[in-house]
Amino acid sequence: MPSNKIQKAINEQIQNEFYASYFYLSMSAYCEVQNFPGFAHWMRIQSEEEMQHAMKLFDYLNNRGGRVILQAIERPPFEFKSPLDMFEQALEHEQKVTKVIHSLYKIAKNEDDYATEVELQWFIKEQVEEEKTAADIVDRLQRIKDDTIGALMLDQELGSRSLVQG
Ligand code: FEO
Repeated sequence: MPSNKIQKAINEQIQNEFYASYFYLSMSAYCEVQNFPGFAHWMRIQSEEEMQHAMKLFDYLNNRGGRVILQAIERPPFEFKSPLDMFEQALEHEQKVTKVIHSLYKIAKNEDDYATEVELQWFIKEQVEEEKTAADIVDRLQRIKDDTIGALMLDQELGSRSLVQG
């Protein structure tokens, strides 16, 4: 069974992942109102992926004989200045999550909890992808600026995203 310290840290990460799911869902709702159905779809899929991340840790802790204790989830932001502002906030959020996962990994290393280290390696790799994807979209939106056609084309492209089972 993981130490109390690890269990607490994993429970916090479960909370972070659920918060991320909530945050992306809130962004999806914003995109619906702004009439960007493709962005809304992309955010909704992202929200589902975050839920999968939470459940991956939920299952892991249970499988190790630990105790999952779900925490309260705060209200995420719901207003954004623009789709660019929204994706910038998404990128910033992912960068924060990466840091938290790295500290969690450090705790597991210090405690010689090899199973938790291996479990977290998946998340470390995933964060590289998550940051890259968000950064690429930010970059494209920065280049699009006020070009409506460009924004509509990107909206259409992101609307084709499908859910990958983790
Ligand atoms: Fe669960 Fe976006 O990292």
